[in-house]
Amino acid sequence: MKIYKKRDFPVSDVRRLLEPGPVVLVSSAFKGERNIMTMGWHTMMEFTPALVGCIIAESNHSYELVRRSRQCVINVPTVELARQVVQIGNCSGARVDKFAKFKLTALVADEVGAPLIAQCYANFECKLADRRLRDKYNFFIFEVVKAHAAVAPKYPKTIHYRGDGMFMVAGRSLNLRRYFRPEML
Ligand SMILES: Cc1cc2nc3c(=O)[nH]c(=O)nc-3n(C[C@H](O)[C@H](O)[C@H](O)COP(=O)(O)O)c2cc1C
Repeated sequence: MKIYKKRDFPVSDVRRLLEPGPVVLVSSAFKGERNIMTMGWHTMMEFTPALVGCIIAESNHSYELVRRSRQCVINVPTVELARQVVQIGNCSGARVDKFAKFKLTALVADEVGAPLIAQCYANFECKLADRRLRDKYNFFIFEVVKAHAAVAPKYPKTIHYRGDGMFMVAGRSLNLRRYFRPEML
C-alpha cells in the first residue's frame, strides 16, 4: 500500500479535504417570501429520526427565513444543475427571486411551507429539531419529516465541493457489501 509523503498543509484549507457532499440547495419560505441558497456544510447526525445538521451563515438572506419559519427543504441537485448551483450560492435572495432567475419550478411540499425544487433529484422536507447550536455556530439541526427521491438513475451524479471553485462529480460505484456487518448496511 502506498505511503503518502506530506508537507505542512494550511489549517484553513482543511475544509478542502473534509468538505462533505453532495452540495445541496436549501429552499425556504416565510410570510410570502421564498428563497434558495447553496449549501455544502451539512452532516447526517441520526438515521431514525433522520436528523441533519447544517450551517446557514447569519449573513445569508435564507438565515432569517429559516430561523423564523423553523423549516426548510434540502434539495439534492445533479451535475446538470451545477452552474445554477454555483450562481445561486453567489447572489442574495434579498434582491432577486432565485426561482424565477434560475428558471426553477417550485412545488408545494406536503409537510412544510418551503417549496420543493422540481428539477432536483431528491427533496427532503425538514423541520427544526434543535436550535441550541444555532446562536453559537449558525448550526441548525433539522429532522427530515418527508422525503421525495427519483427512482432512476440509482446513483445520481451529485456534485461535491472541493473548495477554490472546484467540484467533484459522483462517479464510479464500488460494491463492498460483503465486508459489512448486516446491521451496518
Ligand atoms: C458550493 C457552495 C457551498 C456553500 N455552502 C454554504 C454552506 O454550507 N453554508 C452557508 O451558510 N453558505 C454556503 N454557501 C454560500 C451561500 O450559498 C451564499 O452565501 C448564498 O448567496 C446565500 O444566499 P441567500 O443570501 O439568498 O440566502 C455556499 C456557496 C457555494 C457556492
